[in-house]
Amino acid sequence: MGFERMWGELAQVGRSARTGGYFRQPWTSADNELRAWFVGEAERRGLDVEIDGVGNVIAWWAPDGVTGPGVLTGSHLDSVRDGGAYDGPLGVVSALAAVDLLRERGFVPARPLGLSVFAEEEGSRFGRACLGSRLAVGALDWAAARELRDRQGVALPDALAGAGLDPGDIGPRADLAERIACFVELHVEQGRDLVDRGEPIGVASEIWPHGRYRFEFKGEANHAGTTRMEDRHDPMLTYAMTALAANKQARLAGQRATFGRVEAEPNGTNAVPSRVTAWLDARCDSDAALSDLVEVISRQAGERAERDGTAVEVSEESVTSAVSFDADLAARIAGDHEGGDWPVIPTQAGHDAGIIAAAGVPTAMLFVRNPTGVSHAPSEHAEMPDCLVGVSALADTLERLAGP
Ligand code: GLV
Ligand code: MN
Ligand code: MN
Ligand code: MN
Repeated sequence: MGFERMWGELAQVGRSARTGGYFRQPWTSADNELRAWFVGEAERRGLDVEIDGVGNVIAWWAPDGVTGPGVLTGSHLDSVRDGGAYDGPLGVVSALAAVDLLRERGFVPARPLGLSVFAEEEGSRFGRACLGSRLAVGALDWAAARELRDRQGVALPDALAGAGLDPGDIGPRADLAERIACFVELHVEQGRDLVDRGEPIGVASEIWPHGRYRFEFKGEANHAGTTRMEDRHDPMLTYAMTALAANKQARLAGQRATFGRVEAEPNGTNAVPSRVTAWLDARCDSDAALSDLVEVISRQAGERAERDGTAVEVSEESVTSAVSFDADLAARIAGDHEGGDWPVIPTQAGHDAGIIAAAGVPTAMLFVRNPTGVSHAPSEHAEMPDCLVGVSALADTLERLAGP
């Protein structure tokens, strides 16, 4: 079915020789190369390719006379900074391989079967996770999105135009949820659940709510040597104490809080900074727990700022509410094979599938075991035999959903 060939073709795109990790930032050369690769794979299979203005691609397998809402499967090809090979591409390559397998079985779809690649899933460039799928279902307004700028100050429409896309083609569409009957995303597992259970495949029950918040700490720049410790207004100190508080609060509450990105100004070794900006990623098992956790961390940041003679402002960049996947579909996929049910498990990672489910489309996710349990880092992994079980599970699911 060509899985290993395709996997090999992607292996060097956007790869760092130093770390072995990948950075496939949206609408840069690595991402454009991957999108072109996908279009090529779709065309060699005779699929009809549509690309919207943000670079979401859908390749349709719809034999003559087969119309109506489609069955969609796919994932994304962009990555986080220094990420792994599997987060995203595994779902895309598996979708192509599943089509090959279905054709080998002689299957002909009775509803259009679409393979999708969504743009900027990770939010690594414009800070909005699942930007492409949000725009595709109208969960994010193009009028708001077009104002976004990346870290270099490039506006989103300019980034799109630079990648040869036509940003004028996004806003008016936003109708994906009406065009599809269901969505299935296969993804590498991003934690240790399946390894611990000794299972190659899992099915998602829900995604935890997830938010990104910008903490702006302001102080007073001053000399690192001559300024007495008691005379400082050091925003780095306020930030550091806030990071400790976030870690403690998340542990106490059984939730997740991470400061993974920090910027200091002027960022000199021998000066107290004037400003530190840090981004909190928080994930909890309910919407209420998420707002409680962020409120406590924000309050503690404010109290610490008062003590340090600094100031802090917190702004919400994006919040994705809890998502429950279609329970019947999950149960059917979990039970649809020999040798006992696959586990149905929650995940704390965000996915396009969550955006599409929240738009009212019956949606399911399949996870493939990751022996390292590590993700968003170079050591993310999946063994080839498990990947092939994943392809066959996906093909079985699509056969059921798109069959007569
Ligand atoms: C995306 O993969 C996320 O969960 O942040
Ligand atoms: Mn990811
Ligand atoms: Mn992903
Ligand atoms: Mn993700």
